[in-house]
Amino acid sequence: MPIGTPIVELQRATKELSEVKAAGWVRSRRDAKECSFVDLNDGSCLKGLQVVVDATSPAHAAIRHVTTGAAIVATGALVASPGAEQRWELRARAIEILGASPEDYPLQKKRHSDEFLRTIAHLRARTNKYGAMFRLRSRLSHAIHDFFQGRGFHYIHTPIITGSDCEGAGEMFRVTTLDLANVPKAAGRIDFASDFFGREAHLTVSGQLAVETCCLAMSRVYTFGPTFRSENSNTSRHMAEFWMIEPEFAFADLADDMALAEDMLKFLVAYARRECAEDLELFARFVDPELDARLDLVLNTDFARVSYTAAIELLQASGRSFEFKPEWGADLQAEHERYLTEEYFERPVFVHDWPRDIKAFYMRQNDDGRTVAAMDLLVPRIGELVGGSQREERHDVLETRIRELGFEPADYWWYLDTRKFGTAPHAGFGLGFERLLMFVTGVGNIRDVIPFPRTPKHLEF
Ligand code: 4AD
Ligand code: MG
Repeated sequence: MPIGTPIVELQRATKELSEVKAAGWVRSRRDAKECSFVDLNDGSCLKGLQVVVDATSPAHAAIRHVTTGAAIVATGALVASPGAEQRWELRARAIEILGASPEDYPLQKKRHSDEFLRTIAHLRARTNKYGAMFRLRSRLSHAIHDFFQGRGFHYIHTPIITGSDCEGAGEMFRVTTLDLANVPKAAGRIDFASDFFGREAHLTVSGQLAVETCCLAMSRVYTFGPTFRSENSNTSRHMAEFWMIEPEFAFADLADDMALAEDMLKFLVAYARRECAEDLELFARFVDPELDARLDLVLNTDFARVSYTAAIELLQASGRSFEFKPEWGADLQAEHERYLTEEYFERPVFVHDWPRDIKAFYMRQNDDGRTVAAMDLLVPRIGELVGGSQREERHDVLETRIRELGFEPADYWWYLDTRKFGTAPHAGFGLGFERLLMFVTGVGNIRDVIPFPRTPKHLEF
């Protein structure tokens, strides 16, 4: 071990090779009179390797065990393929069966529905589509670090277990070691003093508050990690566990924030096009015929910018009968988001300066007394891809807002401290990694862009 050369490397060979080994899983086998053809795939790239086993070769003795799904190692010569489908093929001298695959292997057919594949998430990475998706996911994770590291941002590991609610939306999962069958009580209430941390603890909904403290020390930082929300919305765009990229930079305002988000999205789309062309083409061919045009649009146009107030006016003047009437002060619904980005602007659009009453406590208050310096980036097909803001850096304004919203300033003492000692203007945003993957591939359901989706009433593995 390791057995063999990754198939992606064999595909790139520049000359014939007399002795190679390739290991992988059998996608299919076709028997002709003189030989058998095996499509071998090891997940290193989309395309499999054609293994040819002559009926006269000693390798042929094992052929009946070379069934769909089996793990095998083929040894032989890499030679130019007479077939039009591939440049190279492996003429096998020996086949070793590492793991047989009986007839009830669920991936016998070439194509299966996404719904069915979700029920066998432990096997779906063996299909072309999910292999391509998870390779893209891996490459784009790398690209995110590339983007920020190339711009002097430092990667901060923010905590997963937290004592504070960043978004204040009450959508947090509890973390406890208390015995749920016998919860300790004091004065009629749960006694968290005897819990693991001696206080209430939750899974984080965002790394922002923690990363802000490092921002006001290191100027340019980001975090990229899993976040958890117990919102009970069974939509194609929400999950209980998702990954978020959150940059935070000092001496910056809302306009800088939008410029950074636009640069980042353009960088990631260009990266995927350049580095993941083969995998991306699968999505353009089989999933979303308009994918290429949409990605071109990202690369070749400046994103639009519109204030929330102007956006509401546009929606009201649209003549559309929306299910939810657009009204100043209300959040934008998916139908509003899509009208703005797909029909009115026909490109990604930042909606900025939102009513303060529907946004989080940390956003910077504008002078008009009713809006905050917040932005959402809306993109075609997805709607909200990014949410961010300039942060409230004025200690007294922030403390007053925390009180107004019914929170306890003492719970945020460390956050308020950063405004007391050397406060500075700063801004940041959060980009949902799964929504980015939906956007880049055209896949319509968020459950299909992460290996193991977590949604209400669904927790396998
Ligand atoms: O708009 P949100 O809630 O912003 C924040 O959490 C800020 N603290 C970010 C920041 O400024 N540092 O979430 C940011 C993004 C959304 O735009 C969306 O793409 C994604 O996270 N998101 C979800 N993705 C999947 N499932 C969910 N339940 C999501 N909730 C938010
Ligand atoms: Mg948001």
